Amino acid sequence: MTTRPSPHPTPIELRNLDAGYSRILVRDVNVAFGRGKITCILGPSGKGKSTLLRHILLLNRPLGGRLLIDGADLLTASDEAVRDFRRRVGVLFQGAALFNSLTLAENVAFPILERGGTTESLALDIARQKLALVGLADFAEYRPSAVSGGMKKRAGIARAMALDPEFLFLDEPSAGLDPVTAADLDVLIKDVRDRFGTTIIVVTHELASLHTIADDLVMLGDGAVLAQGPLAKVAANPHPDIVAFFERRPAVERAAAGTFAGRLGPAGGPDRMRS
Ligand SMILES: Nc1ncnc2c1ncn2[C@@H]1O[C@H](COP(=O)(O)OP(=O)(O)OP(=O)(O)O)[C@@H](O)[C@H]1O
Ligand SMILES: [Mg+2]
Repeated sequence: MTTRPSPHPTPIELRNLDAGYSRILVRDVNVAFGRGKITCILGPSGKGKSTLLRHILLLNRPLGGRLLIDGADLLTASDEAVRDFRRRVGVLFQGAALFNSLTLAENVAFPILERGGTTESLALDIARQKLALVGLADFAEYRPSAVSGGMKKRAGIARAMALDPEFLFLDEPSAGLDPVTAADLDVLIKDVRDRFGTTIIVVTHELASLHTIADDLVMLGDGAVLAQGPLAKVAANPHPDIVAFFERRPAVERAAAGTFAGRLGPAGGPDRMRS
């Protein structure tokens, strides 16, 4: 697999971007996604992580700001330029629905055939290569209903990689997987970056994943980007929501975090959360 590395060091850049639909969910987002880097987007449920990915693909238009692709604003670009950009992106949407009536190989071959210019048997050959990349060489002829959840996720990633994308967007790739399978997926994602130089954006809640794969983090909350940068920098941020995320504290404690009782811990006893 070869990707077509864009010469721009930050091929995707959000400037003063307001994300949302009828109202703003995340305001004034300023993020530069580094070329060949894995950037993880985190934040509470329903706060706009998937929406940010949809904005970058222009499946929904942001409410304001600029979306720079290789330095040029996609929001004012032609429909053709938007289509060109989308062709450079492979996406694993949240839920990763595969077609149940198709085998894994046929699922992965689907975007290749949709693009056109190739025969079905060639597309299936490429699909089998992609499935081998994600460790599913022996399952190419299985239907999604006959493989495990983790295997479906990997097949979804193989499908996202079908057209050798320069950019890979993965929306919660390890949600619902056991920790070992999730760790295997992390290795795969890192491997894709290392081998192909792919610029990858991953929405994730998994702390373990962040440690393994993240070059940079973007943390959403309070209707804005709370913090961004390398893991060590974000993890050191004293914002209570960020501290709570990294300590895995529930919201009810978080609400009390600023109080004397909150600092004592839930039972008023020793602070068990601050290990
Ligand atoms: N097409 C849409 N039109 C209007 N509102 C939408 C649309 N899609 C999502 N929303 C709303 O936008 C908000 C953010 O949704 P989004 O899917 O971006 O959240 P998220 O951060 O990805 O959450 P999760 O972690 O649960 O996946 C939600 O309140 C959701 O109901
Ligand atoms: Mg989401």
